[in-house]
Amino acid sequence: MNEEFYTAQELADKLKVNIMTIYRYINSGKLNAYKTGKDFRVSKEDYEVFLKNKQRNLLEEKNNQILQLSKEIEKLKSNIKKQRYGLVWVDVPEAFEDDVENKIPILKEEKSLAIENNDDKPTHLLIEGDNYHALTCLNYTHKGKVDVIYIDPPYNTGNDGFRYKDKRILDKYPDGTDVPKDSPYRHSYWLSFMKKRIELAKTLLTSNGVMFISIGNDEIAQLKLLCDEIFGEKDSHNIIHWKKNQKPQNASNTISESAEYVLVYFNEKPIKLVRGMKGTRTDERGSFKPSPLFTFDDRKRRTQTVPKGTPIECKVWKKGKLQAVRNKLAYLNILDEPIIKNGILQNDVRVDGQWRKTDTNGEFQKVVEDNRLFVNSNGFPNEKSYRDEDSKNVNTNLWLNAGYNELGKQLLDEILGQDNVFPYPKPIELIKEILRSINKQDAIMLDFFAGSGTSGHALLDLNREDDGKRQFILVTDNENNIMSEVCYPRIRNVINGYDFSGKEKQVLFEKTLTLTDLKKADAILEEIDGITKENEESKRWDKISKSINDGLLKMVGEKNIEDKKGGLGNSVKFYRADFVGENNIMHSTDKDKLELAYNAGELLAIAENTLYEQKKNQYYQIFKDKDRFTAIYFREEMDEYDEFIEEVRGIRGKEISVYVFSWESDESIYELEDLKNVRIKTIPQPIVEIYKQIYNLI
Ligand SMILES: C[S@@+](CC[C@H](N)C(=O)[O-])C[C@H]1O[C@@H](n2cnc3c(N)ncnc32)[C@H](O)[C@@H]1O
Repeated sequence: MNEEFYTAQELADKLKVNIMTIYRYINSGKLNAYKTGKDFRVSKEDYEVFLKNKQRNLLEEKNNQILQLSKEIEKLKSNIKKQRYGLVWVDVPEAFEDDVENKIPILKEEKSLAIENNDDKPTHLLIEGDNYHALTCLNYTHKGKVDVIYIDPPYNTGNDGFRYKDKRILDKYPDGTDVPKDSPYRHSYWLSFMKKRIELAKTLLTSNGVMFISIGNDEIAQLKLLCDEIFGEKDSHNIIHWKKNQKPQNASNTISESAEYVLVYFNEKPIKLVRGMKGTRTDERGSFKPSPLFTFDDRKRRTQTVPKGTPIECKVWKKGKLQAVRNKLAYLNILDEPIIKNGILQNDVRVDGQWRKTDTNGEFQKVVEDNRLFVNSNGFPNEKSYRDEDSKNVNTNLWLNAGYNELGKQLLDEILGQDNVFPYPKPIELIKEILRSINKQDAIMLDFFAGSGTSGHALLDLNREDDGKRQFILVTDNENNIMSEVCYPRIRNVINGYDFSGKEKQVLFEKTLTLTDLKKADAILEEIDGITKENEESKRWDKISKSINDGLLKMVGEKNIEDKKGGLGNSVKFYRADFVGENNIMHSTDKDKLELAYNAGELLAIAENTLYEQKKNQYYQIFKDKDRFTAIYFREEMDEYDEFIEEVRGIRGKEISVYVFSWESDESIYELEDLKNVRIKTIPQPIVEIYKQIYNLI
């Protein structure tokens, strides 16, 4: 025997199998061999590769079996629960396009649809495709990273276009069919559809992430039980009642529906949902609402000292009488000459006025000590109520003034310059209120039933309002061209501006008045004046009108626009769900995995939030975002590896994520070990593993 080679018989003896099995391994390409006359020779090296692959396949097979068993256990557990109490339905298998069923999902960028503005604002993601596939991909890129999910799924009313592809009867309804109200499977289809999508979405949330789901009367009960099952029953989960129309609708002769619901589900750690507080301002300490320290009740007139160090926003705050804008009888008397440098008071100044908080019970002193006192642009002392610090500022489950459906339609038609573009757009105010409530200015928001893109628009508008850095991920299919003709053009127009002729209106301030409010009406009016004057917003409007309707005090900005409505800036990358390989994930071959590795670039770029491609060749790809980079070596062959390592070493970035092709999950790269800013990861096995877990979950 040659020391470096084995004959087929020697291998059969070594592996304790029949020689025919060895020939089969050779013929199928699993074992590399050289033909010598009638027999084969296998090098020691090839034999070791064969053994390693065999072990890997065995391990994968065992892992699959474990996953299958866990799935069985989960099913049994949930059956036991169901036998006692819970939601029972026929879990109908869902079919997808034939060519998709047995492939591996990825995201592919459509470069021509990118919207780019070099404006230091966030880059957002638009994804076209079935949300089931998009959520599968996002489970690799965004597991545990999403702060808030808002969805507005089909309500299953019987005429809202909800379709379900029942895998069992595909020959009868090859394209799926709209589910009619009298279908015996109506709720089962909807629940089967929603369950797997919500389960996939839940894993994307951060531990204190929140999911908001809009829903109507047809599925509220089923959805509540389903979500209780998925998120676990907790007191903190809730249902917001949202007043959806300005006026009652007369569609029904039994009861007119003026409200619908928004289910609120917290992931592991519930957070306080704060009240949106329109008209809030932000300083380095957080979002605050100014409230006047005056009552205009002359019985409260006294002298109090505004201390040195107080911020003064009023351009000319000087000794003497200062008349209130609204109330002729109300005024301040500034008794000392203020010295102001860079907007900060340099001396103690006594002010005579109708103080709402006084030193007598220490209330005024507390405002001063908390650094919440400031003098507004009208020259009146105000206190800042910080949203995070006000324990009473918790939101309620009754939303009467969070936009109305009529406004949603009107706005969408205006942006696209057509009538009746889409029947069900939500108003942006509803989503803005949701985003305000989680109180995170750099939140990542996902909407996987994005439709006309309202939630993305709302997020952009709120970022404009409070200088936020929130990022959206919107997913929608292209049913009735909703992505190509509505969602995409809407987001593009909002970002880049659009032609518009007419009146633009925006609600700037709203308050439902209580009796207590009426007692301090003057103060509220003063507050409104203050907001109008101080706020940058005021400069954007030709007219600001105030009205009171049904106890709701409202301030609306109006502007005549003739040609172009200015864009909000920001950038967007556009992706489509795509598919690689020829086998479903549980049976993916090495060939499928290689194809996945070649095509995983965008998935990795999204996972790292480095969305801009810098370089791509046959072997590697490099993405960038500001000073962070992702470098990917996606080929099994090492031909260009040295060049790749050189390239990575040449990158002057803050953080570099390096992905290299490997059959295993945890490789290390010695060549880069000395670089501190480099994190090494592998492809494609980690993607395969996450997808497998999903496959088993469903
Ligand atoms: C009720 S609409 C959402 C409306 C949206 N909130 C707005 O304001 O425009 C639901 C949307 O989800 C889309 N959709 C339905 N099933 C889907 C699926 N499986 N994957 C992706 N999108 C889907 C529909 O095309 C529809 O546009």
